[in-house]
Formats: sequence, structure tokens, C-alpha cells
Amino acid sequence: MSDIDMKQTRAESNEQRTTTTVGETEEELQSEWSAYEFDGQTKISVSDLDVYYGSDQALRGVSMDIPEKSVTALIGPSGCGKSTFLRCLNRMNDRVSSARVEGSVTLDGEEIYQDGVNLVELRKRVGMVFQAPNPFPKSIRDNIAYGPRKHGDIDTGLLARLLGDANPEEEEDLIQRSLRQAALWEEVSDRLDDNALGLSGGQQQRLCIARCLAVDPEIILMDEPASALDPIATSKIEDLIESLAQEYTVVVVTHNMQQAARISDQTAVFLTGGELVEYDDTDTIFEDPNSQRVEDYITGKFG
Ligand SMILES: Nc1ncnc2c1ncn2[C@@H]1O[C@H](COP(=O)(O)OP(=O)(O)OP(=O)(O)O)[C@@H](O)[C@H]1O
Ligand SMILES: [Mg+2]
Repeated sequence: MSDIDMKQTRAESNEQRTTTTVGETEEELQSEWSAYEFDGQTKISVSDLDVYYGSDQALRGVSMDIPEKSVTALIGPSGCGKSTFLRCLNRMNDRVSSARVEGSVTLDGEEIYQDGVNLVELRKRVGMVFQAPNPFPKSIRDNIAYGPRKHGDIDTGLLARLLGDANPEEEEDLIQRSLRQAALWEEVSDRLDDNALGLSGGQQQRLCIARCLAVDPEIILMDEPASALDPIATSKIEDLIESLAQEYTVVVVTHNMQQAARISDQTAVFLTGGELVEYDDTDTIFEDPNSQRVEDYITGKFG
């Protein structure tokens, strides 16, 4: 389609839009608004995802493909289902007894909603970082080593020492590597045995990211990872997210539009009712969205 044709189509669809009294437009969702095409490999593919909590529906027919090694931002007003969507990607909603998930999510083409999926293994591949930093009340070292010890990737616990297969060098390497990747090493290298709760909020959040990286995930889900932090700590997390995308597939929920615009490659906009309204290159979403509702949301007319 030529540029002129495209402008004409947009102008026509603009005419069809009718604004309600609350400023929200009644517009038909169009599947092409969320049919995002990209060059890279698909890492995660979601189709026709519906999620219910009891009889309330939190997500409606969401379909989207997420490219590997990139940052995908999820934005939208409170309650539109962003956290619910994120939790579907590593089956964390399984822990919510009232939640019912229908539809399909594949990782590298393999369905995660099928019998026999090892959830421990799945959550190792798909790590998660939450809004409030939640380090364990243990040393910095133990926070990082916890996952690899649990998964048996390193053995330095008492049993391993008794059996003679403790591997302190391997653990030291892993701790250093994870903290470096999370841009925290310089700040904590001389206090690895101090309690993690003594770190600042921003440092705690980077520790949680390091803890997530230590089990060697492929995908990192982040639910508003910087919303509790000051601007300097936030900018460190943002830089970190961008650098992580060279190796990992990062999916991040944020309420901060500028943040989404700064750090993400593609942006998915969910709106009230749990619908994915539009999904495209971040530049397109912020500069030239197809949906009037998305434009209104982004320019702050409603939320
Ligand atoms: N455990 C739960 N039990 C019942 N309802 C829930 C549960 N978690 C979420 N919901 C409901 O599902 C809908 C989507 O919630 P969700 O937390 O996914 O929204 P969100 O987009 O992450 O919002 P916010 O931006 O405020 O974090 C909301 O109506 C919410 O009340
Ligand atoms: Mg949320």
C-alpha cells in the first residue's frame, strides 16, 4: 500500500470513529492493528488467550508473537490485564486458584499449556522480576546462589561439602558473572556476605535481576520493575534492560510511557476489558498509532 493510500485509509477510518461522552471512542478492534510483523525469530507465541478469575474475564482473545532478544513493552491502564498476561507466560497464574486460562502459549514453538510440562524447568527458562524488590533475607551471595543450588547447577551446600563435591570456585564465578550482568558487582563486591536487605531499593532490584539471571533464563518478565525507584536507580534499570536484550527476550510492563518509548523495540497496548488493542514497533505506537483509543491513552486523554 502506498503512503497516500495508507493516509486515505486512516482518514476514512477516522471518520467512522464515534466518541462517547467519556472521550473513549467506540471503535471496532481490527486484527491488523495487532498483527505485528518482525524480522527476528519468534520466541513466544500467544494465541486466543482468555483468562478468567472466577466469572470475571481479565483477558479477551489476546494473540501476539514476541520476537527473541528484544524488549517488548506492555502498557495500558490499571486493571487491563498486563500482569495477568505476564503471569500466563510462565504459568504463574496456575498458583491463583480462581484463575482459568484458555488458549495457547508456545515457547520456541512448544506449548506450555499442556500436561507434563515441568513448571520448575519452565520458570527457570522464563524468569520474573516483580515491582517491589523481594530479595531473600539472606546474604547477597546466598540470594544469587539460591536458584543454581536448588536446580543442582552448583553444589556448595552442607550436603555437597559432606559428600565432597562442593564447588566453591564455580559458585564464585557464577555470583560474580550474575552481579556483573546486573550492573551491581562494582557496588557489592566487597560485601557479598552482608544481608541483602541492607542494600538500597535500586540495588535490591538489580540483585533480584542478578538472581533471575543466575539460573540462566531465556526470557525475563518484568512487572513494573522500576516503579518503586528514584530517577537515578530507574535509569540504571532501564540501561540494564536494554543491555539484557542482546542476550535475552525481555517483556516488561510499565506505566511510564517515556520509559516504554525509551527502552522497548515493540509495544503492546492493552485497554480496559483485557483486550490487546494495538501491537507494533514502539515508534509507530507512540508516533502514529492506528487506534484512536490508543492515541487518546498515549496522549493522556484517558487512562
Ligand atoms: N488473583 C486475582 N483474583 C481475582 N481477580 C484478579 C486477580 N488478579 C487480577 N485480577 C483482576 O483481573 C483484572 C486484571 O488485573 P491485572 O492485575 O492483570 O491488571 P494490570 O493491568 O496489571 O493492572 P495494574 O496496572 O494496576 O497492575 C483486574 O480486574 C483485577 O482485579
Ligand atoms: Mg499489574
